[in-house]
Amino acid sequence: MRIFEAKISGSLIEFFKINLKNICSFKQANNLLKELSGINSFFPNAACFAALKSSIEEHTPVFEESDRRAYGDFQTNENLAANIVQHLCNKGTSPELIIEPTCGKGRFIIAALQHFKAIKKIVGIEIYYPYVWETKFEILDLFLKDKPISKPEIEIIHEDIFNFDLESLAEKNKNLNTLVIGNPPWVTNSELGTLNAKNLPQKSNFKSHKGIDAITGKGNFDIGEYISLQILNNFDKCKGEFAFLVKSSVVKNILYQQWKSKYCIGNIRKLNIDAKKEFNVSVDACLFIANLNSAPEYTCKEVDFYSREKITEFGWHKDKFVHSITDYNKAESLDGKSPFVWRQGMKHDCSKIMELDRFNGHFINGFKQEVSPEKKLLFGLLKSSDLKNEVINSYRKTTIVTQKKVGQDTSYIKREYPKTYNYLNNNRAYFDRRKSSIYRGKPPFSIFGIGDYSFAKYKVAISGMYKRTTFSLVLPENDKPLMLDDTCYFIGFDNIELARVAQEILNSDIVQAFLKAIVFPDAKRSITKDILMRIDLEKAYHLLQLELNIAEKAAWKSFGDIIKGKKEKSNQMTLF
Ligand SMILES: C[S@@+](CC[C@H](N)C(=O)[O-])C[C@H]1O[C@@H](n2cnc3c(N)ncnc32)[C@H](O)[C@@H]1O
Repeated sequence: MRIFEAKISGSLIEFFKINLKNICSFKQANNLLKELSGINSFFPNAACFAALKSSIEEHTPVFEESDRRAYGDFQTNENLAANIVQHLCNKGTSPELIIEPTCGKGRFIIAALQHFKAIKKIVGIEIYYPYVWETKFEILDLFLKDKPISKPEIEIIHEDIFNFDLESLAEKNKNLNTLVIGNPPWVTNSELGTLNAKNLPQKSNFKSHKGIDAITGKGNFDIGEYISLQILNNFDKCKGEFAFLVKSSVVKNILYQQWKSKYCIGNIRKLNIDAKKEFNVSVDACLFIANLNSAPEYTCKEVDFYSREKITEFGWHKDKFVHSITDYNKAESLDGKSPFVWRQGMKHDCSKIMELDRFNGHFINGFKQEVSPEKKLLFGLLKSSDLKNEVINSYRKTTIVTQKKVGQDTSYIKREYPKTYNYLNNNRAYFDRRKSSIYRGKPPFSIFGIGDYSFAKYKVAISGMYKRTTFSLVLPENDKPLMLDDTCYFIGFDNIELARVAQEILNSDIVQAFLKAIVFPDAKRSITKDILMRIDLEKAYHLLQLELNIAEKAAWKSFGDIIKGKKEKSNQMTLF
């Protein structure tokens, strides 16, 4: 059954029926419930009291849950909440004040009441009214069934955390040993944008934070991250601890900012959980724990929550933000500047028209229509998922390449390639619908991520989307280069031997150790141009002692000459 849309147990309904029968005022009822469970103002007003009384007498309809996506609603299951609280207990956490800033159905509050002995006060805040009730019902049920080990004063507040005065809560309770625990919403501001929903603070310069922009790109941020920062802003100087279930990217971003923000947090830990098992979502998530009121620390130990197996220690090390301090110490000499410019593959934002599948020599677009553009403008296309092998010499898709460099006039297509032009022109509406401002004011059918480098015959490439850090050698098809899409990065060569040397160096143990040191595998795009540009291939070249045959030795030497910039112009090889 549900009351106020909140789930309520049969035994609690019985309890209300018996105990509220002869009570007429909500204040009297509140006194009784406070006596039993410690909850302050169980009924905020007389109307709520009357509504509950009439609901338990009559049949109450079960309401459909509303769309909770804008609230990043992933309730922690009882087991996980209990295991987290048990873990904190085992580590010696014994709070007097518990704060759950977005308490949902109150699972952490219940677990805290069952495990911590010294709690004097609990404050839970929640925006969704039915959950406020469900939390209160659960707490009351707990006190009626078991006898929790402590009976603190409890406030369950129906409020938007962005309007809640955290500063005075911290100030009023500064003498209490505090645990801020919870699981803030799992939703990003861009998801809110697509839902046309607002669950954001009114005024915030959060989006323009340079560090966040640098890491997440496009000012996209997680609401859970914003709430975590609000908590640290208000509570970092209070004695106690902070323990939040968040997406892994949130911890990385907070640690990244810690260089500047210098929150008084120490003993920072990230305990990875299995979000598929616990929440049925495919996202990297973890329990983020830190001691408050500590000298600021800048690194975080990462372990598996279930096995406690050590994974890495990441954060700021020797002025650099690294994923593995141990690996970085082994390979730091490679942290420099790449002599080659790493390029991102081509981008057109019009895949249904621009990308074609091949079936027995026929080309089919994303609308399952057969098309026959002139072959000259058609190139094999590789996406991240195609870069799995060491050598790539085949492709699934083809793409129309309309320009040789960004901004090139495309009127030549009508003159020289009428079939392609007719096809593109008939589908012009799809190009005109492209939202990104990069296409604005550009010639029709413009693409991006295109230049001389795109036409290099041999490419050494890597996907930006996978955890794998090995590099593939991409070969041309009958001398015609293959293109890569914008999820991939590459350097190009006109000579296969040089491309092989580059691949060999990039896949060497030392470069791989360096990448392991700086790549965050749980980031959405773990490999970026910035990461690749940090690989000092010249250093790696000099460090490597490979056993080579004569032909390889020659290529190796040429490569060395090129990266030192000593290659004479008379040599025919081109480097992109
Ligand atoms: C990921 S759920 C977790 C709930 C609870 N902390 C738990 O561990 O089960 C996030 C909760 O935040 C609540 N919430 C979302 N936006 C909020 C806001 N602006 N203020 C307060 N609570 C909010 C949602 O309704 C939801 O109950």
